[in-house]
Amino acid sequence: MDVAGELEKLRLEVQACRRCPLYKGRRNAVLGEGPPNARIMLVGEAPGYWEDLQGRPFVGAAGKLLNELLKTAGLSREEVYITNVVKCRPPGNRDPLPEEEEACAPYLERQLALIKPEIICTLGNHATRRILSKYGFEAQPISRIHGRPFQASTVSGRLLIIPLFHPATALHRPPMRETLFKDWLKVGELLAELKN
Ligand code: URA
Ligand code: SF4
Repeated sequence: MDVAGELEKLRLEVQACRRCPLYKGRRNAVLGEGPPNARIMLVGEAPGYWEDLQGRPFVGAAGKLLNELLKTAGLSREEVYITNVVKCRPPGNRDPLPEEEEACAPYLERQLALIKPEIICTLGNHATRRILSKYGFEAQPISRIHGRPFQASTVSGRLLIIPLFHPATALHRPPMRETLFKDWLKVGELLAELKN
């Protein structure tokens, strides 16, 4: 399958999407970006101000921290696919509503089916809840399960889900930086184990 071509089609679809009211306030829908054959996928919550302006995920303050965290795990931004649960910016950066997440879910489903990642890092409670329940796990608060991998099996093979705090947590609560960096070090260790 031409995964890159299918992702481009999906990008056009979200740009024109009106499945939920978030289309009204967006400047750009943000599908996501990264190699179509990425082994690792990151799922955040929703675009913020800068993401909406540029049409790219995690390019604001949380994105800068995310780039540092990726480095801690020995990863570069270029090798991971990054997206969000919801593709349009909620007004004033409020949390997406459950009905908005539901309306947008088919896009994330198609991204998962096309990219078939081996590892999904969920960033924050919204992505963690959605991805864990999709693969049959009970949703739990991120504060309890951050950094703890879940092993799932899918039609395309094994999948490791790693729930992590959202990088923006450390922007609001600076002491959380240390926890985030520790968790991402663990992500690096898990990746090294998988390669062996
Ligand atoms: N926060 C998110 O959850 N996603 C982004 O793309 C940017 C900030
Ligand atoms: Fe469509 Fe998702 Fe944007 Fe809502 S958030 S308009 S469902 S792309």
